[in-house]
Amino acid sequence: MIFIKKTDIGNFTESIHLKDYERPFYEKQIGVDGLICDYGRERISLDGEWRFGVDQYDNCLRSKWYEEVYADGDGRPFPLDFSFEQWETITVPSCWNLLKERYFLYEGSSVYVRDFPFEAAQNERVFLRFGAANSSAKVFLNKQYIGMHTGGYTPFCFEVGELLKSQNRLLVVVNNTRKSTGVPYDNTDWFNYGGLFREVSLLRVPRTFIKDFFISLVPSVPDGTDGTIVSDGTDGTIQACVKIDGADKKGAAVLDIPALGVRVDIPICDGDGKVTFAASPSLWSPENPHLYDMTVTYGEDILRERVGFREISVKNGAIFLNGQEIFLKGVCTHEESVQNGNALTECEIRENFALAKEMGCNFMRLAHYPHHEAAARIADEVGLMLWEEIPVYWAIAFDNADVYKNAENQLSELIVRDRNRACVIIWSVGNENADTDDRLSFMTRLAKKARELDHTRLISAACIVDSKLLKIADRLDEHLDVIGINEYYGWYEPDFSKLPRIFENSRPYKPVIISEFGADAKAKSGGTAGELYTEANQRAVYEKQLEVLGGISYVKGISPWIFYDFRCPRRLHHMQNYYNIKGLLSADKKYKKPAFEVMREFYSSR
Ligand code: GCU
Repeated sequence: MIFIKKTDIGNFTESIHLKDYERPFYEKQIGVDGLICDYGRERISLDGEWRFGVDQYDNCLRSKWYEEVYADGDGRPFPLDFSFEQWETITVPSCWNLLKERYFLYEGSSVYVRDFPFEAAQNERVFLRFGAANSSAKVFLNKQYIGMHTGGYTPFCFEVGELLKSQNRLLVVVNNTRKSTGVPYDNTDWFNYGGLFREVSLLRVPRTFIKDFFISLVPSVPDGTDGTIVSDGTDGTIQACVKIDGADKKGAAVLDIPALGVRVDIPICDGDGKVTFAASPSLWSPENPHLYDMTVTYGEDILRERVGFREISVKNGAIFLNGQEIFLKGVCTHEESVQNGNALTECEIRENFALAKEMGCNFMRLAHYPHHEAAARIADEVGLMLWEEIPVYWAIAFDNADVYKNAENQLSELIVRDRNRACVIIWSVGNENADTDDRLSFMTRLAKKARELDHTRLISAACIVDSKLLKIADRLDEHLDVIGINEYYGWYEPDFSKLPRIFENSRPYKPVIISEFGADAKAKSGGTAGELYTEANQRAVYEKQLEVLGGISYVKGISPWIFYDFRCPRRLHHMQNYYNIKGLLSADKKYKKPAFEVMREFYSSR
């Protein structure tokens, strides 16, 4: 126990009278500008057992536990409401909801504390990186507040070299309270897990280092006559961009792709560098998930990346991969397992993708928020195209500037994190939002931002049809490359006859992906089609849906909702029992419902 001089913490009564105690923390937000790429960098892991306290009234922040003032100026000890060293432990990464039965439904603040040694070296800078924390994290290092991150599913970094000592204490207040001004807002159709549910690590980099690296095929452009794709990418051009952080902002980075026989300088001017060069890489596709090992060096810094090269484009209402028209045989999935909540293991991700390929998928919609970065790395390897999205879900406060900033930051962090992943072909800026003026302006800005950050991918959103006009008529469509449509005819909308009419009434001039359709089915339930919640009924809905969808020429992809049952606090029907049971598989993925086979046959027939 350390007795240190009482600082200006004020007295006990301050902590019970101070109402807007949170405001000072919000004044130090960290976002995409603080993100540094860690491709192939050595990570000093801070995962493992942390001390853990459920702090429902935010007393850590109100009473400044993080300052650890144990006594007054004369050494008289204070009565305290915390004892970090005696607290229970929690494993990082994990979701606190699964730590103990009584934490299952807990929403609020929890305090994470861990100590770690550090031996500083000369000429280095050190960054503290969080894979994600749901849904906000206020971070304190050695009793100093270093900043906060808002957004539950994207990585964030703090530069900490100057604060580190030989022995360090890291304290993080994670809060997962749902808010009407959140992204997502306070009503969603998934379970609101909380905690440090992705990795925490330290990154050591030289004083001048490569902050960001983005490489891709330069998208071909239609030859301007009949709009056919000029190149299928084989005689392509590769573009590589780097951002340098540090004093030495002039020079050249070196990009090495041995298997392509490429070793090229990237001239750096004022910290930015870009180079294009001709190359004929073996193009990445689900059938040929070819990846190239490469290194980028600048001064003493080196990055190691594995990147596939491919071109995704749309033209004349079709989707092209490397110049070949494709049909996206997909399925939606949350990032969840019964055992680990949102903190999926690599093994669980691989199992999910293997099951999707077994169903005949070449595509997956990672709903409704950025999944773990490992998902895109594994999809790169196994050959699955991905739709990745940010949780601009349902009734976001579209008129709120801070909410826009939060959404744009999450989109930017997702894109900067994953834009070297060939498998990612679509960035989605939202899901099932009402077509209002505020929403149109908000999401048009997001689509524009996505294109600014990455001109090599398609922009989409999961939209809803106009149920009065019975047509595809979302004003956001004109700002998208691919129109996502969620429709539940045969389930929420019992009158199935409307579905074909919608397609007859619509003349979209862009490719449409049916980004959701489905029906609840209790696994292993008997009963007949027409009886809600039965497997027979789910199967019948799928068969009727596919009969219609399979015949619509402008539908260029399908991702039924959803791959496996998942926890959902909105689902209290006794057949659901707190789960959304639209899965094609049971929640533990051990059981395939009959509709799984319907999808498999449909995809194998395409
Ligand atoms: C909506 C929504 C999903 C939800 C699904 C359902 O379309 O996008 O998040 O789970 O429908 O109602 O099951």
